[in-house]
Amino acid sequence: MEKRETEIRRVREGDAGALLAFYNSLGPGSKRMFRPLGDETILEECEKIIADNRAGIETKYDLVATEGGRVVGWAFLWEMDCGMPTFGLAVADSHRGQGLGSRLMDAVIEAGRAAGKSKVVLTVVQDNEKARRMYERRGFVRTGETVGEHDGLPYYVMEAHIGAEDV
Ligand SMILES: CC(C)(COP(=O)(O)OP(=O)(O)OC[C@H]1O[C@@H](n2cnc3c(N)ncnc32)[C@H](O)[C@@H]1OP(=O)(O)O)[C@@H](O)C(=O)NCCC(=O)NCCS
Repeated sequence: MEKRETEIRRVREGDAGALLAFYNSLGPGSKRMFRPLGDETILEECEKIIADNRAGIETKYDLVATEGGRVVGWAFLWEMDCGMPTFGLAVADSHRGQGLGSRLMDAVIEAGRAAGKSKVVLTVVQDNEKARRMYERRGFVRTGETVGEHDGLPYYVMEAHIGAEDV
């Protein structure tokens, strides 16, 4: 079968349906680790995310990895209007272990740096070793612990300095 190109780009008008399909198709194992939109989402939620990326609003910075119109990965910085944006990341089960998560993460952090942000925060389920190691390799350090409001799981809070002055 012909190998499709994977493109990483900012979300744009018309992406809501593909983002919805991506999120709702993540398996239970992924949803245990990544659930910014709960168990399932709806089109209006995805449209709102895209609206929040619009020039002049920009409270969110969302990147998608796409293959022929299908979303296969998603990384974001939310609360861009606050001092410290919140990071999130997920890759489709079918596309894991091919470097896509790393590419998405590096690209969205670079976008945060370019937007003048100096720090980023994230939460990670404590037994999600793959993601935690990935974050540590990129300079994230544990700054606290918390319990998920909706899932009751133990999380680490991690932060990284990303500003040019910190490099
Ligand atoms: C975490 C996640 C985004 C990683 O995506 P991915 O495309 O599989 O990741 P990559 O192939 O880029 O690998 C990421 C890193 O883990 C390493 N890695 C790959 N497979 C691994 C494995 N099975 N075990 C441990 N490390 C592994 C890679 O070497 C890479 O290292 P790098 O930091 O030096 O680049 C993906 O597994 C996922 O969506 N998981 C479910 C949702 C989730 O956990 N999101 C994070 C919430 S905080």
